Amino acid sequence: MTDTWLILGASSAVARAFAREAASHGAALLLAGRDMEDLERQAADLSIRYEVPAVPMRFEARDLASHAGFVAECRSRAADGLLNVFLAFGIMPEQTEADADPQIAAAMVEANFTGAASILGALGPVLEAQRGGSVVALGSVAGDRGRKRNFLYGATKAALLTYLQGYAARLSGAGVRVLCIKAGPVDTAMTWALPKLPFMATPRAFAAAAWARTRSGSGSAYLPRIWWPVMSIIRLLPTPIFNRLDI
Ligand SMILES: NC(=O)c1ccc[n+]([C@@H]2O[C@H](COP(=O)([O-])OP(=O)(O)OC[C@H]3O[C@@H](n4cnc5c(N)ncnc54)[C@H](OP(=O)(O)O)[C@@H]3O)[C@@H](O)[C@H]2O)c1
Repeated sequence: MTDTWLILGASSAVARAFAREAASHGAALLLAGRDMEDLERQAADLSIRYEVPAVPMRFEARDLASHAGFVAECRSRAADGLLNVFLAFGIMPEQTEADADPQIAAAMVEANFTGAASILGALGPVLEAQRGGSVVALGSVAGDRGRKRNFLYGATKAALLTYLQGYAARLSGAGVRVLCIKAGPVDTAMTWALPKLPFMATPRAFAAAAWARTRSGSGSAYLPRIWWPVMSIIRLLPTPIFNRLDI
């Protein structure tokens, strides 16, 4: 039996590296996203390189009405083993842009949280019925404490974490593992325009570490791990000190 990884947001640099990890371990792939030309190229490359089935699929997180049909298509196109999910889509406009334009703010909430909750909700019954599999979703260290530079983005990731905690509890009886990765900065399109960030991971190293966690139980994990002690300190900083930091 061949397991399948459904990669949501498969054009993301992190997702691309994770898809290679999954393929190198013999998994079939459903590569879902908006840039069909890129997904077709990626699917062709992975299926030749690793000799696994790889199928490009159109997916728009904000088109909630399409999610039930999309899940039905996933069921028909997945291989004969367990369906697993890697949720990697998201956007991070600057806080100042979101403050200035409510459409930008709403688009971020819709993509990062509403869309994630909707597609995971639609996938829930499929995962429950198969009695196994993993869901790995990309949260962020930004969700641990609202910082002045990106608290709306952080809020969407905090909401996603809370959703995933309940989702994990609901699916635990069916043996489905649900992991929220609290990601630190990764060198991708999302961070290219930002000033140099500490402990920046490469997508490849990040994806390898994420893959290694897919067999562990439900919960959350900081990646890279250095962010666990860093965020433990950030969370404990007294509010007057935290508010003075320019972060
Ligand atoms: N990079 C970091 O430092 C970092 C840190 C913490 C967490 N994360 C999280 O990691 C995940 C992957 O990000 P990345 O760094 O790999 O950035 P990325 O390369 O910019 O990837 C983001 C992906 O999300 C997709 N996407 C955005 N809106 C979508 C929508 N409405 N429907 C479907 N797909 C949509 C994009 O698709 P298009 O190509 O079609 O635009 C793109 O493929 C995100 O959830 C991000 O929040 C990243």
